[in-house]
Amino acid sequence: MEEGFRLFPEQASTVAPRVDAVYAFLVCVTAFFTIAIFLAIVYFAIRYRRGRPKDQPHPEPEQLWMLEATWIIIPLLLTMVMFFWGAWLFLEIRTMPEDALELQVVGKQWMWKIYHPNGRSEINELHVPVGRRVRLRMISDDVIHSFYLPAFRVKMDVLPGRYTMMWFEATKLGRHYLFCAEYCGTEHADMRGQVVALSEADYAEWLQNRDTDPPPQGVGSRLFTQHRCNTCHDEGSELRSPRLEGVFNNTIALSDGRTVIADESYLRESIVNPMAKVSAGFAPVMPTYQGQLNEEQLFQLVEYIKSLPIGKVDKDAS
Ligand code: CUA
Repeated sequence: MEEGFRLFPEQASTVAPRVDAVYAFLVCVTAFFTIAIFLAIVYFAIRYRRGRPKDQPHPEPEQLWMLEATWIIIPLLLTMVMFFWGAWLFLEIRTMPEDALELQVVGKQWMWKIYHPNGRSEINELHVPVGRRVRLRMISDDVIHSFYLPAFRVKMDVLPGRYTMMWFEATKLGRHYLFCAEYCGTEHADMRGQVVALSEADYAEWLQNRDTDPPPQGVGSRLFTQHRCNTCHDEGSELRSPRLEGVFNNTIALSDGRTVIADESYLRESIVNPMAKVSAGFAPVMPTYQGQLNEEQLFQLVEYIKSLPIGKVDKDAS
């Protein structure tokens, strides 16, 4: 982590130098015009000051088409460069890579909890491998937070009730700051931590070197039974309900004629708000689990459903 005074944080991700380049361009253009306009003000104030009647400007200036065209076209080109350059970079930052390592982030007053795919979790620290794309699926258990990694030049709101995503690829080993960037209550300023960028081998070792947290799908499997989801969603069940085996990432026909991809957001929504998107051919009878499960547990349940292979029936969960 950097020490002392710095104008900019370290550049520690693949997008960081590119974000800085756009920013430097904006600063240069702004500085150039600010200085040019102020110099012109000073020059005209002296040149055309009162007491030099000979040099008073013409009361009715002539039309200078070339001059007018110039000061329309040059700013237009400059702002178009800003727009397309910025939009191109923005789209790249906001387009989630498919082949990324996916971690789950839960924000709550006032801490960050992060889950790795094998179940290792950490609080206010984020261990990531350098040179690999990392995608974060984030949600809040209470109010709006914002996950901010200055050295990586990425920031994203973390909302209650909805998953948001962000990605980055770290390029520098070491520790970098992690902040909450949205005022979220008394201890907002303490809701911070560190990103620890490790080599691929060190990250693999760190992942193994853990307490006995079971993987999220294991905990989810227990929750599935505890909350009696299996009463309806088991193959042997007498109640007619949609099968969950292999449902993840499938296209689902809904009772109102729409279709939806059964991604994490859909699975989560179907647990907390089952009436929102009912599968075609099924009665809207599932009770809501809103308030009974926190976001950690919802994530574990979703991971469990994702892990169900086609044709596998949940018999070993009890
Ligand atoms: Cu969480 Cu500010």
